[in-house]
Amino acid sequence: MSVKSLRRSVRKSTAAVLTAGLLATACTSPLRTPSISPSGAEGAGGIGAEGIGDPYFPRYGNGGYDVGHYGIQVRYDPATDQLTGRVAITAVAAVPLRRFNLDFTGLPTTRITVNGQPATAEQQESELRVTPAAEVSGDFTVEIDYAGVPQPIKAILGEGGWLHTEDGAIALGQPESASSWFPVNDHPLDKATYDLAITVPEGLSALSNGTPEGTTTADGWTTWRWAERAPMAPYLTTLVIGDYRITSGSHRNRPILTAVAKSFPEGGDADAAMARTAEVADFLETQFGPYPFESYGGVVVADPRISYALETQSRPVYGPSFFRAGSDSSWVVAHELAHQWFGDSVSIGGWQHIWLNEGFASYAEWLWAEKDRKISVQSQFDDVYGLMDWTVPTGDPGPANIFSGAVYRRGALAVHALRLTVGDDAFFKILKAWTTERRNGNAVTADFIALSERVSGKSLRPLFDAWLFGTAQPPVPKP
Ligand code: TRP
Ligand code: ZN
Repeated sequence: MSVKSLRRSVRKSTAAVLTAGLLATACTSPLRTPSISPSGAEGAGGIGAEGIGDPYFPRYGNGGYDVGHYGIQVRYDPATDQLTGRVAITAVAAVPLRRFNLDFTGLPTTRITVNGQPATAEQQESELRVTPAAEVSGDFTVEIDYAGVPQPIKAILGEGGWLHTEDGAIALGQPESASSWFPVNDHPLDKATYDLAITVPEGLSALSNGTPEGTTTADGWTTWRWAERAPMAPYLTTLVIGDYRITSGSHRNRPILTAVAKSFPEGGDADAAMARTAEVADFLETQFGPYPFESYGGVVVADPRISYALETQSRPVYGPSFFRAGSDSSWVVAHELAHQWFGDSVSIGGWQHIWLNEGFASYAEWLWAEKDRKISVQSQFDDVYGLMDWTVPTGDPGPANIFSGAVYRRGALAVHALRLTVGDDAFFKILKAWTTERRNGNAVTADFIALSERVSGKSLRPLFDAWLFGTAQPPVPKP
């Protein structure tokens, strides 16, 4: 995304932390980013930092530049597991750079140019260190050719990165995954637009994010094209290759495309859940404001190593375990689609703010259950409130706990505590203002608190202190 909008969003966050003096210990130093601080480049002579400055994951992302667009072309042969790729990156240097890094897990590179001139690249663990022929400043382009057998990434939870499956492959994972299949600035602070061309043996599907741009077949290979024109955080990219049953059409003038692994029975629970995608998105729109993207969808994979679902932008990926015969799985669709607003369109400015994604996506499950199955949000809150372990602070859970109940369920409790405190009117105004004002950007917890105070006209610091950062059960707010 543009440096300007990044700068604007981060500067606001910083101001909120400082002026409101909110949660000074919990939200320690505001995240430094290449665009707000020359410290994105280390030392003399403009060397881009190895990390973007995330306190939880210091090596994620890189400093010194901001990517605007990735053009990705990959060819994958499941028979040999060989991936051949070319990525064309357009970026803006924050300071003149004589060296910079990309995150890349080590597929051998065969050619690299910067601004069209041959450059050198050195692989250092999961970083590709690029030295251009001449110092770059302002707009620049990087083109990298690579080939090899892509590997999984050690994930905090579930399997991540590139997985070779029975019939193809799945690239998926959080908090990082993209660097397993293309060189990238792998942190949500550097959102960018994408276009992808994925070439696979004829007969297989190659599914990804965004708008389907058609397929072409030649010599037994089919190229599938996709375009995501809204800024996307790298961990929200996905690639799913295999034997899929695709349903496509249009919904509210936008393409909708869902796919289910063919090993699922036709017309079964997975197909039924995907068929509710539009309905769930339309319901969430009434709660959160306009659907933020150009396309809709979802992909159900069969590989049991995918034990989760992930909110990959505009087209979430769902693991097989959600779709057991006879069980209602629309709750997980509600969760992943809620992330399209909370996490994908409005992305976190650092991984400690993950409750801004998971707390709201979990709350969306409660909203959906109330709408679909007449189970009141209040009764769902009451059940969880009574059983919660309060020892881990939602707003700063620590890197090992970013996918814990303290983030998901305690996050949802915090959202509802806000609603009880400010009332329904102000509450839904807050959600809609958040998704509108922060659309396609990044934000942090202090931004949400500031916005909630502004919209409700109430001082909410004690409330958020207790529900997000306290370690004891807070009393339920009296409506
Ligand atoms: N963010 C996902 C969700 O709540 C869950 C998740 C965490 C995940 N880590 C993952 C999914 C790794 C797949 C891979 O919807
Ligand atoms: Zn989630």
